[in-house]
Amino acid sequence: MGTVSKLRCPKCGCEPGSRTVFQCPKCRSVLEVNVELRHLTRAEFEAIRQSRDRSIWRWFDFFPVEHRSSIVSLGEGDTPLIRAARLGEKIGIHNLYLKNDTILPTGSLKDRSNSVGLSVARELGFKTAAVMSTGNAAASVAAYAAAAGIESVVMVPKGTAPSKIIQARAYGATVVVVDGNFDYEVAKLYKAAIQEFGWYDCLSSNPYRDEGKKSYAYEMADRLDGRIPDWVIHPTAGGTGIYAMWKGYRELRSLGWIDRAPKLVAAQSEAAAPIVAAFEKGLADVEPVTARETIAESIQVGNPVSLGWRALAALRESGGTAAAVSDPEILQAQALTGKLAGIFAEPAAATSVAVAKKLRVAGIIGPDDVVVCNLTGHGLKQPEAIRFSEKEFTPIAPTLGAFRDRLKAVEEQFTP
Ligand SMILES: Cc1ncc(COP(=O)(O)O)c(C=O)c1O
Ligand SMILES: [Zn+2]
Repeated sequence: MGTVSKLRCPKCGCEPGSRTVFQCPKCRSVLEVNVELRHLTRAEFEAIRQSRDRSIWRWFDFFPVEHRSSIVSLGEGDTPLIRAARLGEKIGIHNLYLKNDTILPTGSLKDRSNSVGLSVARELGFKTAAVMSTGNAAASVAAYAAAAGIESVVMVPKGTAPSKIIQARAYGATVVVVDGNFDYEVAKLYKAAIQEFGWYDCLSSNPYRDEGKKSYAYEMADRLDGRIPDWVIHPTAGGTGIYAMWKGYRELRSLGWIDRAPKLVAAQSEAAAPIVAAFEKGLADVEPVTARETIAESIQVGNPVSLGWRALAALRESGGTAAAVSDPEILQAQALTGKLAGIFAEPAAATSVAVAKKLRVAGIIGPDDVVVCNLTGHGLKQPEAIRFSEKEFTPIAPTLGAFRDRLKAVEEQFTP
């Protein structure tokens, strides 16, 4: 049995004493769950590393779930940490690794969160789980709710492309389209609906779900045989990944299982970079911005209200940084990651590679530093980001001559 402590406010220390109150009644901060780890020994680290269960659940003791029978798993976790030598040479980083989360069950990092979140939902007896999202979270919540035998409701803003919500529908979610801006009207309605219907909230305002991405830290410590990267770069929207990775590293360090932690880097699109702006201004909390359109749709978040301040603290404590990149830089990183490393990442995910390149050019990352870029979502989530010329789709006559002409034309088109 995992030993779960009470939910506690990280700002004012308040402990409401209920497992289903997620927000501090005094200061409105999202509460935090801490798990008792003192009983874990070094031998357990080795046992976990040898475990035949390769999902995040081999780290069961680190998650806020009391009974193994509550676990809702689709086999998430232990994604490959791939040495990307050719991509690394191209961007001047000799020890570049890619954490390939595109292969998670629903194609994005959200599965780390929702496996934990829906396990707790089942433990607490919820019948319906809800989320507001324009894509990855919707699909993931719907899949894990289906696996848990729980209904799911997904709220999306008007204008969301059908391709974004098809996956959630496929897992049986009820999808409700709302006429309004995502960060404001949709968010307001979502909050009201959670209160009205008593549904289980799967946003970053859920302290249990926020623990899931700690698994990045555990898996990286395992995969690199205890060697710790110098930098881990994470595409950042709400800030959960940065906050949770840092917490995971802190836990492993407090157990003496590792002796240092990486510098964490938040990678954002220039069109939606409130965490980068707050980091650069030295602010303790994030000032909301109105997110502009960006090719990195999955991280187009202007108001990381729940965990922004905790992500900022994690960046600073780790000695890391935050950087934003433009759409052309993101698309170039996506193309290089596909062509030189064989991984098709969605544009939001490729911001980590674009930021690695930018920090290397700026001399912040050194040529021999060990750098991990998290690739957090599959390219097939947003296939329209890949551009084709009309010509490529024009059929050729079925002759070798026409085939040769086409190969020549394509070669000319792609030779820089
Ligand atoms: C593909 C992708 N990458 C990264 C993120 C980052 O989220 P967070 O900052 O909450 O870890 C998200 C989610 O919003 C996402 O969909
Ligand atoms: Zn408080």
